Amino acid sequence: MGVWWIVVVAVLTHTASATVREYDWEVEYKFWQPDCIEGAVMTVNGQFPGPTIQAVAGDTIVVHLTNKLTTEGLVIHWHGIRQLGSPWADGAAGVTQCAINPGETFTYKFTVEKPGTHFYHGHYGMQRSAGLYGSLIVDVAKGQRERLRYDGEFNLLLSDWWHEPIPSQELGLSSKPMRWIGEAQSILINGRGQFNCSLAAQFSNASLPMCTFKEGDQCAPQKLNVEPNKTYRIRLASTTALASLNLAVQGHKLVVVEADGNYITPFTTDDIDIYSGESYSVLLTTDQDPSQNYYISVGVRGRKPNTTQALTILNYVTTPASKLPSSPPPVTPRWDDFERSKNFSKKIFSAMGSPSPPKKYRKRLILLNTQNLIDGYTKWAINNVSLVTPATPYLGSVKYNLKLGFNRKSPPRSYRMDYDIMNPPPFPNTTTGNGIYVFPFNVTVDVIIQNANVLKGVVSEIHPWHLHGHDFWVLGYGDGKFKPGIDEKTYNLKNPPLRNTAILYPYGWTALRFVTDNPGVWFFHCHIEPHLHMGMGVVFAEGLNRIGKIPDEALGCGLTKQFLMNRNRN
Ligand code: C2O
Ligand code: CU
Repeated sequence: MGVWWIVVVAVLTHTASATVREYDWEVEYKFWQPDCIEGAVMTVNGQFPGPTIQAVAGDTIVVHLTNKLTTEGLVIHWHGIRQLGSPWADGAAGVTQCAINPGETFTYKFTVEKPGTHFYHGHYGMQRSAGLYGSLIVDVAKGQRERLRYDGEFNLLLSDWWHEPIPSQELGLSSKPMRWIGEAQSILINGRGQFNCSLAAQFSNASLPMCTFKEGDQCAPQKLNVEPNKTYRIRLASTTALASLNLAVQGHKLVVVEADGNYITPFTTDDIDIYSGESYSVLLTTDQDPSQNYYISVGVRGRKPNTTQALTILNYVTTPASKLPSSPPPVTPRWDDFERSKNFSKKIFSAMGSPSPPKKYRKRLILLNTQNLIDGYTKWAINNVSLVTPATPYLGSVKYNLKLGFNRKSPPRSYRMDYDIMNPPPFPNTTTGNGIYVFPFNVTVDVIIQNANVLKGVVSEIHPWHLHGHDFWVLGYGDGKFKPGIDEKTYNLKNPPLRNTAILYPYGWTALRFVTDNPGVWFFHCHIEPHLHMGMGVVFAEGLNRIGKIPDEALGCGLTKQFLMNRNRN
């Protein structure tokens, strides 16, 4: 109790001078044409994507979120925000709160501590796939100097879009046999894409007709209007349901300077890989012929693409915006050149002066990722447990010690080291479960995620793993099976990047380290929406006796609802 008060006082004094930004949001479906084809899209205040939250470090964000959906619950997760002291506001249904019922309003209140490019999205069922997302951008605090130098900025939120409605996608994934959702119909840039047409149809190798947009169409691409000889910051974030993306700007170099809200050692590249859950900032200098315009292309990597590149235009204001570029758009690098993908990830180092990781870990998990067949249903499992979140959110269960809220036995901390990751699982049947990993407060935890072969064929997929409540250091990547006692020697302990999302490459492992300094319950899961839907996640809990007050409105379901009713009666 005493410690909690110290935390509260510290938070209050810290934010005393900061701004409170307060929003009223209503979420509802609207007919929309993200790629010129009409579908039902989840909107915030009638907008798709939802409104951008623009804040400065230290601000408090208050969102009164009203669920205007008629038949579905709702939550919103603030992806990349640590929620220090406000774990109940993390917005993960079943983990930190109950889904908000139709007609009800829930208030999120949290502080954005440091500058960075983030986003928010639905985190109940597959509502992110349904279009429930938007940008959350935090600038340096007033009076503080931004260390990056640029003359202007753009914000590109990348996503993928299916024509099949989300309830039907969810049903397919949980049917027996499973019906896979297939590749996206379109890639969207700020919610705008091109289906079955191309902005580059004038080139002889194009197989699609020219797109015909009218000014003001919902699917008309936003052009980036730039002046010659300036430097622009382009903020990129990917909230895709499935696709791994690669972005390039014709004729221009990109200098990568930020990853997941952390400054990194700048490096120059022709194109950038971006996976679901990641964000970056790149600097682009407009040093090319100002009498031309240039394509910005976003294509699919990591899975055999069956989706047309999304295109928009970098428009030098010295040239009419309607003038199309004179050469074809950049070609997306080969989808299965995983060496190239890994090499890109390995170029990312923290910026000078960033906190370095503790030299040793206290606790370690080795998490095997497998695709399984549980009684004929296709699932993803971690150390043989496929996650099903309980009816009572974990945060309420641990706060009020409700023993029946979930299985108190920890899931396995490792897997059988003789498991053959190069072949389909010999015994694909396994179990579903809702156990969690509980850590003491303020210890260093290592998590090794280990990839393996899927159910059938010679395939291992890419999984972008995202952790709530923390940034972690990415200590290293390796091929094959992680060898305890040996592979630790390859770790980068000098300048590993701090991130909230890390990529697990086919047949490989990725090593992460974080400190359990944020009392709460935190989701750690694959950011591919269908994979999470099929159980690809685990839950970490830490500092349980330091969790502060949880607003009752986060707990109006399952056993916590009963608990609150009894408490209020007494
Ligand atoms: Cu952006 Cu739990 O996810
Ligand atoms: Cu996955």
